[in-house]
Amino acid sequence: DDTIPTGAKQMTTCDYVPGLGGIPAAQSRVSYVDGQAGQLEYRGIPITELAEHSNFLETAFLLIWGHLPTPEDLSLFQYEVIHHRRIKYRLVDMMKCFPERGHPLDAIQATVAALGLYHSRRAFNDPAYIRRAVVRLLAKIPTAVAAFEHIRKGNDPLRPRDDLNYAANFLYLLSEQEPDPQKAHIFDQCLILHAEHTMNASTFSARVTASTLTDPYAVVASAMGTLGGRLHGGANEEVMQMLTDIGSVENVKPYLDQQLAQGRRIMGFGHRIYKVKDPRAQIMQGLAEQLSENYGCDRYYGIALALEKAVEERLGDRQIHANVEFYSGLIFRQLGFPADIFTSLFAIARVAGWLAHWKEQLDTNRIYRPSQIYMGQHDQPYIPVVDR
Ligand code: ACO
Repeated sequence: DDTIPTGAKQMTTCDYVPGLGGIPAAQSRVSYVDGQAGQLEYRGIPITELAEHSNFLETAFLLIWGHLPTPEDLSLFQYEVIHHRRIKYRLVDMMKCFPERGHPLDAIQATVAALGLYHSRRAFNDPAYIRRAVVRLLAKIPTAVAAFEHIRKGNDPLRPRDDLNYAANFLYLLSEQEPDPQKAHIFDQCLILHAEHTMNASTFSARVTASTLTDPYAVVASAMGTLGGRLHGGANEEVMQMLTDIGSVENVKPYLDQQLAQGRRIMGFGHRIYKVKDPRAQIMQGLAEQLSENYGCDRYYGIALALEKAVEERLGDRQIHANVEFYSGLIFRQLGFPADIFTSLFAIARVAGWLAHWKEQLDTNRIYRPSQIYMGQHDQPYIPVVDR
């Protein structure tokens, strides 16, 4: 019998698909990707439009509430986020106990989970509860990223500045300098581009966690854990390391030959969905070029261009092209961010998408409980430990 009863409907079993490639895990209205055409939309709006005309908080509102905010909606939302930016001194004290050599994303994940200690009420049918959780998570995560950066150097974190917008405030919190408006704008565009991307691994993780009806802090913390790996958000840190290892344009081809001969993956290339260049990588490349032109040519930008061309020649016919992570590390480096916080920067942005999926999951919730194909043995004898 190849059918599984699922309430009123009958479903046909399917073969095991490693990585669930091509298997729908949800019905969603949050974003749409066409991997053949290289198109990405948030709530039906092309990412190119949003990167050019929107800002991160407006895009976050769009993703989470499903429509562009009115001017009043946006002002109120910005006001609320500004007024929730500070983090409790006890959380700062907790971060001071973290090992300074620990990875920043782990520190932020632990801090987000600890936020849940203060707001554990789970009133999912109360729109005010959902709104407060969204505002707190969007507002406090950048503060936590900047705070850990200062704490691990033995310094006290800075107080967020109410007169600065989302991206500019983060640049200030990290550098303690007046933020450069052009750099703040480019960082804001990067946040928009990283905010959401359909059913990727960390979003799937967020939805699975959300489906148990746990609190949104646990949802975001679990998604952050999934984001960190080198096959997902962790790739941007690896790309920068790879460009550093390559060191010069002349070394691009020998490096690529060696990596491919050893069966290694080239970080920042390939994607489960995109069969052409990732549209976000296209925009990111333009931003990296803009930074290079306006702030002095970054030699890693030249290496990146040469590497992309060489990978295109070697792997293009296998539909392996640059993904969003390839140029993001370069931009973050040009903006002056330390290399090991790149994935945390990705998390600052992606929290918008995770929250949009959390909210959508609550609206139509059924706990995730897939099946498996058991490959083990049956009726094995138990052998007492002394006899083994
Ligand atoms: N370099 C070299 N070969 C690659 C690469 C790469 N970057 N990506 C895929 N391939 C090859 C694989 O070796 C495999 O070859 P094979 O069929 O001969 O074994 C084939 O392409 C298919 O690869 P899969 O791993 O099956 O593709 P999948 O869809 O599972 O993986 C992934 C997608 C994880 C992104 C992969 O392309 C990869 O590892 N890229 C490098 C890491 C990276 O950049 N991650 C960031 C992705 S974007 C994001 O998460 C935000």
